[in-house]
Amino acid sequence: LPIAVLVSGSGSNLQSIIDRIEAGVLDVEIKLVISNKTDAYGLERARKHDIPTRVLLHTDYDSREAFDTDMVHAIRESGVDKGGVVVMAGFMRIVTHVFLGAFENRVINIHPALLPSFPGVHGQGDAAEYGVKISGCTVHFVDEQMDHGPVIIQAAVPCLPGEGGDALGSRILKMEHRVFPQALQWLAEGRLEIDERFVRLKPANK
Ligand code: GRF
Repeated sequence: LPIAVLVSGSGSNLQSIIDRIEAGVLDVEIKLVISNKTDAYGLERARKHDIPTRVLLHTDYDSREAFDTDMVHAIRESGVDKGGVVVMAGFMRIVTHVFLGAFENRVINIHPALLPSFPGVHGQGDAAEYGVKISGCTVHFVDEQMDHGPVIIQAAVPCLPGEGGDALGSRILKMEHRVFPQALQWLAEGRLEIDERFVRLKPANK
């Protein structure tokens, strides 16, 4: 399965995907890594594994749509079309209908909380501050709302007494590194079906 990965930061989720591919347990090929930040460490991780990279600065564009148009072009040029998948791995931008229309039901994101609880950029801290006893992470198909769309997989992480968002977040991140590659492998096997807003996991072909 050809994929493009979008990052804005550290790219540890990108790394978890690369590691699974190299271990021979994830049947995807990363055709391109795009960052909207020049200094994203995710770019460095990609280069170390000879994965093509592009930097597209949203600040160079007048509108989200214009930015998305260029991202779509870059991704298509890399060899990812409607049959591929776009993975948002810590990509801190909302994408528009321009982007989602080009890759319909083929864009996934990971969020460090159990959606629909605690969407937004401080999901870990918000959960810790609220005092929930369980949080976790969510992989979902992306729609035009932030951290919203059909849920593919979630994993629970207990919130420990007295623990702040940073400590909770780093334990959630470890869980992210397990579930994101799993969701991708299901996509690679053609096992995910969207029915209205419900994602069904079809049985594996034996
Ligand atoms: C993760 O916590 C992810 O859930 C959120 O952004 C963070 C990205 O981390 N969307 P990394 O860049 O993959 O290390």
